[in-house]
Amino acid sequence: MKAHYATGLKQRGATIIYVVLAIIILSASAGVLFFKIKQPPQVAQEMKMSTVAPLAVADLPEVTVYKSATCGCCSKWVTHLENEGFKVVAHNREDMNTVKQDAGLQPQLASCHTAFVDGYVIEGHVPASDIKRLLTEKPTILGLTAPGMPQKSPGMQPEGMAPQGYDVLAFDKAGETHVFNRY
Ligand code: CU
Ligand code: CU
Repeated sequence: MKAHYATGLKQRGATIIYVVLAIIILSASAGVLFFKIKQPPQVAQEMKMSTVAPLAVADLPEVTVYKSATCGCCSKWVTHLENEGFKVVAHNREDMNTVKQDAGLQPQLASCHTAFVDGYVIEGHVPASDIKRLLTEKPTILGLTAPGMPQKSPGMQPEGMAPQGYDVLAFDKAGETHVFNRY
């Protein structure tokens, strides 16, 4: 009778172990399943991000540039934009200050040329890559500027060299700015 009782206990012990094991295995597989189910949205998100990325050359809007006839770096900047796939229409103007005022540009944000693309103002030696990013992200700003004449910027240095040592600022009508890109 005693032996029988002991066997009963052993059997019950074994059953408990089996149940615990089964619970562990089941929760582990549930975890794996959950992880697998969670995977697809991540992939979808990555794909969505990659489709937002660069604008095709054919989709780039035309850039209108105002500059003074004697501005050499302005012409080089125009060439830089053309090399990056933009169609550029350039106009020589003697009253560049008026152009900048009409564009809503604060004097401290001014550079040499003033350009317009897709409703945005582009002032000075802003790299083409930043204009492409602007056209993709379409923030609610008036435009981008590289105030002054940064020495290591497209149009100021030999074409193809990386911009360096200056900030491209996003600005609004009140002259409020924030850094759009830092070189
Ligand atoms: Cu310039
Ligand atoms: Cu210029």
